[in-house]
Amino acid sequence: MTSRNEAGIRTAVFPVAGLGTRFLPATRAVPKELLPVVDRPLVQYAVHEAVEAGAETLVFVISEGKESVAEHFRPDPALEADLAAAGKVALVARLKDILPEGVRVEVAYQPKPLGLGHAVLCAREFVDESAFFSVLLPDDMILNDGPGALAQMAAVHARTGGGVVGVEAVDPQMTGSYGIAEVDEGEVPRITSLVEKPAPEDAPSNLGVVGRYILDGRIFSLLEDLGAGAGGEIQLTDAIAGMLGDHPVYAGTLAGTRYDCGNRVGMLKANIDYALANPELRGAMLDHLRQLDLDD
Ligand code: G1P
Repeated sequence: MTSRNEAGIRTAVFPVAGLGTRFLPATRAVPKELLPVVDRPLVQYAVHEAVEAGAETLVFVISEGKESVAEHFRPDPALEADLAAAGKVALVARLKDILPEGVRVEVAYQPKPLGLGHAVLCAREFVDESAFFSVLLPDDMILNDGPGALAQMAAVHARTGGGVVGVEAVDPQMTGSYGIAEVDEGEVPRITSLVEKPAPEDAPSNLGVVGRYILDGRIFSLLEDLGAGAGGEIQLTDAIAGMLGDHPVYAGTLAGTRYDCGNRVGMLKANIDYALANPELRGAMLDHLRQLDLDD
């Protein structure tokens, strides 16, 4: 069962309005976030992380037609009762593990694909602006055997009282795919500048933003006033960059392996590695992998 941090980050925002075109035709009728990694939908891993870090309200920012992403998390007491009556206790437990009791699901619509910053702005009415909240991009999966990525960041927040952005070192030639952070030399590094998808020659470092953020309500007024940035979109990175001078935002280096499930190779790697990390599946997976003629 998912354990929860009672002193954690109470609201989690999941921007999941994207069309998932890289996974067509699989995403013709099924949202990308519901494609499975091993035996659960991609988005369920990020939700698990948020709940572990203390989330009580989950806000899914969707586009029209993606309601099933939020539906996945709605409790189904009738089904649970039927399964329980049939003695299928393990199945009931698996259903209950999707979302612990007391966690609420809210749905916000992003009417047009105007960018990640705009998606976060669309969640505003469901966010308590006086508290810190999290943003999780489910495409980014972080596998480890300790506390989840957001729980690690919540610990940084508890220690510093500031915002936290998840980071990891990326290939210096790939800075154009990420937000890139410059940090100071503090014991907990503070972000001094942040730029969205710079070309390698313009990048201030190779510290790439992973899709995990702990921010406070001040981000909304910055987002409201923001024009289009990189790629013609309203960028969350730009709004965070706008608050760095006044409000500390720290870089949270995440323990674990990160998978970019926004592309097919990342998704396939995640499936292999999450299966290998599952004690029930590891043996069969290893047998299979050992039999592959990898020189072919
Ligand atoms: C978004 C952010 C980017 C971040 C990335 C992490 O980009 O804008 O700063 O590094 O997520 O996955 P996207 O991948 O949505 O283009």
